[in-house]
Amino acid sequence: MRLIRFGISIPENLSKKFDQFIRNKKYSNRSEAIRDLIRNALVQEEVEQNAEVVAVVSLLYDHHKRELSERLLDLQHSKAHMVLTSTHIHLDHDNCIEVIIMRGESQEIKPLADALVASKGVKHGTLEMSSTGKYLD
Ligand code: NI
Repeated sequence: MRLIRFGISIPENLSKKFDQFIRNKKYSNRSEAIRDLIRNALVQEEVEQNAEVVAVVSLLYDHHKRELSERLLDLQHSKAHMVLTSTHIHLDHDNCIEVIIMRGESQEIKPLADALVASKGVKHGTLEMSSTGKYLD
């Protein structure tokens, strides 16, 4: 992959804040940080344009709520063509965490993830959408 160089002009204050950001985030240099910021913007664009994305949903819940486990399974089966895999971890006597990895159009994944996260009894749920990587090189 050929690298190109370009210069940018930004206000001094913004530059100082950016350098602090780079230190906080443990980037080794500005270029690496800027590459990631650009990729983040491009992934955001893919999500907004309903491109095919890869999504990770995590759900923390109490497995004693029997009807909840069933609901989470029913929801996943209703969109089985998008679910690549799921992993269930028994954290302790009460708590379970389930991680579901999906692939599909962002606008189809979002409502399913929302329904899973909003299910009564889910203590904490997250959705992270990432790229398939096809357009990020
Ligand atoms: Ni469990």
